[in-house]
Amino acid sequence: MKKHVVIFEARGGSDKSKYGYRRDTYPIIESLKARGWTAEVIFYSDENRGEIYRYTIDKADAYVSRINPGNLKDETGYFQMLRELVHQGVKGLPHPDVMINYGAKNVVERLKGTALVPVDVYCYYEYDELKNQFPTTLAKGERVLKQNRGSTGEGIWRVQLKDPKKYKDVAEIPEDAVLKLTEALDNHVEEKTLGEFIEFCYQYLEGYNGLILDMPFLPRIKEGEIRVLMLRDKAVSVVHKKPDESADAFSATLFSGATYRYDKPEQWQEMVDEVESSIPMLQARLGGYALPLLWTADFILDTDDKGKDVYVLGEINSSCVGFSTNLELSENIADEIMNLIEAESVINSRFPAFRI
Ligand SMILES: Nc1ncnc2c1ncn2[C@@H]1O[C@H](COP(=O)(O)OP(=O)(O)O)[C@@H](O)[C@H]1O
Ligand SMILES: [Mg+2]
Repeated sequence: MKKHVVIFEARGGSDKSKYGYRRDTYPIIESLKARGWTAEVIFYSDENRGEIYRYTIDKADAYVSRINPGNLKDETGYFQMLRELVHQGVKGLPHPDVMINYGAKNVVERLKGTALVPVDVYCYYEYDELKNQFPTTLAKGERVLKQNRGSTGEGIWRVQLKDPKKYKDVAEIPEDAVLKLTEALDNHVEEKTLGEFIEFCYQYLEGYNGLILDMPFLPRIKEGEIRVLMLRDKAVSVVHKKPDESADAFSATLFSGATYRYDKPEQWQEMVDEVESSIPMLQARLGGYALPLLWTADFILDTDDKGKDVYVLGEINSSCVGFSTNLELSENIADEIMNLIEAESVINSRFPAFRI
């Protein structure tokens, strides 16, 4: 055993210390040290992939992935490298399949009709699907379209009709209808015809993981988005993210001017109970993978037919969850690495135990 861990990070981004690594990475290194291990940060780039791969096999027993694959130009190479590392016996935290199956935007669609997601949610993988279906879903009311990549509100569009009265009671919005489009990145507003917008969205369908999620716009986003930070099957903290007060603002990202408040899970007991009790369903629907060690679920309030509050899932993040507000979680990460290594002695690594 090498007793060494590599932590993959990406260069750049606002969550970094002056040395360029994430602020909550250092505690992981310290927690591993306390257990007699060492760790180092490696900045991933496609150009150095081969070298990083060989170095990691040579030096490390495990990797911790702290990159949002959506922020890479193309995540294919990174995922291939992680997959191959796991294949070669390096323990993966998390395995790329876990990131994809819990963290992609289509997760919301895969959960439609459950307690967490209404039925009126669609996912488009092909341009024709978008072109044929979106005019019909838009006829039902305001929508939010989400691209798969990123985590900054880029390519997340609130879609309204400029003149809704004109299209009252139509089953399908015509291509020349004018739209008011607000992007969650910075809450800026644009106008395009439906035809132009559909064409514009082609870019989100390109590439290996291209897709667009189509869900109703939930006006109660004004009251905030509620993020639950989960350690496996337990909620450890809740962040309440309130969009900027300006008229068009619907984005809960810090960059767009939202304000954050950090709460205890007990302050959101009803929602937390709902998430925790949904976990067997979540796992079954999302491919049967073991839960990620750290993941987040984001909710927006809605009101059901009986006037009761319901929490609608907007997205899950599972690939690079930060824990700056709960630094003690580095202990859990270090323990997890130990557990993975221990499992080695009883599980044949050629037949990995990622599916339960
Ligand atoms: N269905 C929705 N109704 C209203 N606002 C939404 C909806 N979905 C997302 N948003 C807003 O858009 C923001 C960005 O969307 P999100 O799915 O979190 O994408 P990202 O991966 O970019 O964080 C959210 O933080 C929230 O403020
Ligand atoms: Mg988000």
